[in-house]
Amino acid sequence: MPHLDGKTAIVTGAARGSGEAIARRLVADGAGVVLVDLLDDLGAAVAEDLGDRARYLHGDITEEADWAAAIALAQSAFGPLTTLVNNAAIIHIAPIEHTSIEDYARVSRVNEMGTFLGMRSVIEPMRENGGGSIVNISSIDGHHAAGGTSAYCASKFAVRGLTKVGALELGRYGIRVNSVNPAIGSNEMVEPFVPDIAKMRALQEKHDPPPIGRRGRVEDVAGTVAFLASDDSAFYTGADFDLDGGITAGMKVKGPIPGSPT
Ligand SMILES: NC(=O)c1ccc[n+]([C@@H]2O[C@H](COP(=O)([O-])OP(=O)(O)OC[C@H]3O[C@@H](n4cnc5c(N)ncnc54)[C@H](O)[C@@H]3O)[C@@H](O)[C@H]2O)c1
Repeated sequence: MPHLDGKTAIVTGAARGSGEAIARRLVADGAGVVLVDLLDDLGAAVAEDLGDRARYLHGDITEEADWAAAIALAQSAFGPLTTLVNNAAIIHIAPIEHTSIEDYARVSRVNEMGTFLGMRSVIEPMRENGGGSIVNISSIDGHHAAGGTSAYCASKFAVRGLTKVGALELGRYGIRVNSVNPAIGSNEMVEPFVPDIAKMRALQEKHDPPPIGRRGRVEDVAGTVAFLASDDSAFYTGADFDLDGGITAGMKVKGPIPGSPT
């Protein structure tokens, strides 16, 4: 049963990967969605496939004017803005000593500053509309370091920090802010640095899956975001949703659980 009827959402980075899955899920659950991305052919095709509850907009999350355009389109097409999903991000994978200032600044600008700008841009319209839900997509790397990802990892820790500051400041306006920290996303994001990422992930799923027994899917991200966009999550703000199948819960128990009857 759709539970997002009457909601109006902006989803960034929605041309592919998790953002596409999120946009598809929010529309399926009843929301009107503006998909923002730089990959126009892909983004426009997803929006067209979704029909009249979706619009595609070329937009760069680091540009203030593009945020204003996205908000204007969302509100004219679907009504008062209720939901922002800050999903767009980029990665750079290299050891610290091979990460240039330009590499670091590029990742930080998109992932950290872009998320900040999105949050800041929607405060006024959401406040006028009586509140809303902001969902920031961080990563498992925003909680636990991963070698080779200094710029990305730092930016994803920052996203979680922004979430908590936002929760403290914006609760008074009825605006909730939460982080989703997935262990999964598209292979396309990582492929330029790790060409055989798909094969590596398939092997990992076979030989060392998360405690839940399988790898995550972009649909898992979408389901969590749909919950956080809905009124069912009305008392959650400033929370971290570790979407990792139990990877970060602790040491995995291999073999029989200690104390099991033999
Ligand atoms: N890929 C993974 O393995 C993985 C794992 C954990 C978390 N995540 C997170 O999931 C989210 C979605 O990533 P994904 O895996 O779908 O990757 P992706 O590269 O497939 O999608 C990211 C999208 O963001 C868009 N984008 C990049 N810069 C932009 C900008 N300045 N303005 C507007 N759009 C921009 C890209 O064009 C792309 O369509 C990201 O926040 C990412 O950090 C990904």
